Amino acid sequence: MGKKVLVVGQGGREHALVWKLAQSPQVDKIYAAPGNPGIAQLAECVDISVDNTLGLLEFALQEGINLTIVGPEAPLMNGIVDQFTAAGLKIFGPSAAAARLEGSKVFTKQLLHKYGIPTASFEVCENSDSAHKAAGFYIDQDKPVVLKADGLAAGKGVVVTADKQEAADAIEAMMNQHAFGQAGDRVVVEECLVGEELSVFTLCDGKDFLTLMTAQDHKRVFDDDKGPNTGGMGAYVNPPIYTPELKEVIESRIIAPVIAAMQEEGHPYKGVLYTGLMLTADGPQVLEFNARFGDPETQVLMPAIKDDLLPLLEACADGTLGGSQVELEANACVGVVLASGGYPGDYAKGKPIKGLDQLSGDTMVFHAGTALKEGQLVTNGGRVLAVVCRGKDNAEAIGKVYKEVEKISFDGIHYRHDIGRRALR
Ligand code: AMP
Ligand code: GLY
Repeated sequence: MGKKVLVVGQGGREHALVWKLAQSPQVDKIYAAPGNPGIAQLAECVDISVDNTLGLLEFALQEGINLTIVGPEAPLMNGIVDQFTAAGLKIFGPSAAAARLEGSKVFTKQLLHKYGIPTASFEVCENSDSAHKAAGFYIDQDKPVVLKADGLAAGKGVVVTADKQEAADAIEAMMNQHAFGQAGDRVVVEECLVGEELSVFTLCDGKDFLTLMTAQDHKRVFDDDKGPNTGGMGAYVNPPIYTPELKEVIESRIIAPVIAAMQEEGHPYKGVLYTGLMLTADGPQVLEFNARFGDPETQVLMPAIKDDLLPLLEACADGTLGGSQVELEANACVGVVLASGGYPGDYAKGKPIKGLDQLSGDTMVFHAGTALKEGQLVTNGGRVLAVVCRGKDNAEAIGKVYKEVEKISFDGIHYRHDIGRRALR
């Protein structure tokens, strides 16, 4: 009998996961909660929000779901994996205790320090006086400083600045004005690292791991990394900087030690570990971990994987990942996010989306913020769609994806024109 899977989430990342799972010969039926109009073409969407752990659990029990895959971080922090596991249901993702690798920067920095895993030097500050003092150490030497709210802050909890006033204001906002609630009760003040950033996606089963792939995100809204930060404006896989030698260094000095450390601490890490690295002159150093797949990185990872995804995800939950390998479908895969006018600030919704029927057959379009209004696909979020093309190399994939992007239009559309360009240098 074919298997039933449930994907929790509603963005482009979850659309890409559903798209990949739909190709598995083992999968009979896919549900998504709550899903979106793109996902609805491949799965049955059920109206249960990602925060409703009990509702999701009841649904999974009632439908006899064989594997649940959690997209976003919030349900992981809420303990969805602990609750499903206690009910005897198989689920892909870390426990709440293990998800602290994303949920608490203080936990993570202290763990890295304890186990000698390379990361920027830091101080944990419990009040604003000590934070001002710690930040002053860098600023007074005319060096930039990095301020990080301990907990989740919707991607706004990190400030990098060399400006004394800006640093002071950020500390006041986080610690005394409680801009992020309790997430800012403690602040990590750290050294600013210099180098190229790389994201590594590793499947883990608590003891063994498999590096799926690496990617580079484009966080700023405008070309040449200008303008404010966004959720991510585009991504591409396996940047040329990621050599077999670098893979060896990253796995032996960072990934394997972190997984062993989590086991040692009694919180074995299962699921996907998303490691944000800075490739410094002294070697790779950890910037952050996420306890989930990246968005929009997943939209380029999934089409680049040849293997059936289902057995890999099941092996993470079952603790049988050891010896697994992953084969690539394409050397290059590039995704461009099409955003609403004004994003990441205020933007309008409900703009008709045109041109999707003009795309070539091998182009993938993953929905992030769309809705159906009287049968017409319209915009319904800041990031609207990701357009993704594979290629034999980055030049080919980039050339293809931008030809396709030009066929799509909606009022206010904007996107970056330089996704993946770094790979061509
Ligand atoms: P995080 O959420 O910790 O990854 O921080 C978000 C972004 O802030 C990272 O992707 C980096 O661009 C930047 N960042 C974080 N920590 C540092 C650091 N120690 N040095 C330089 N940039 C950093
Ligand atoms: N693309 C960044 C993230 O998923 O956190």
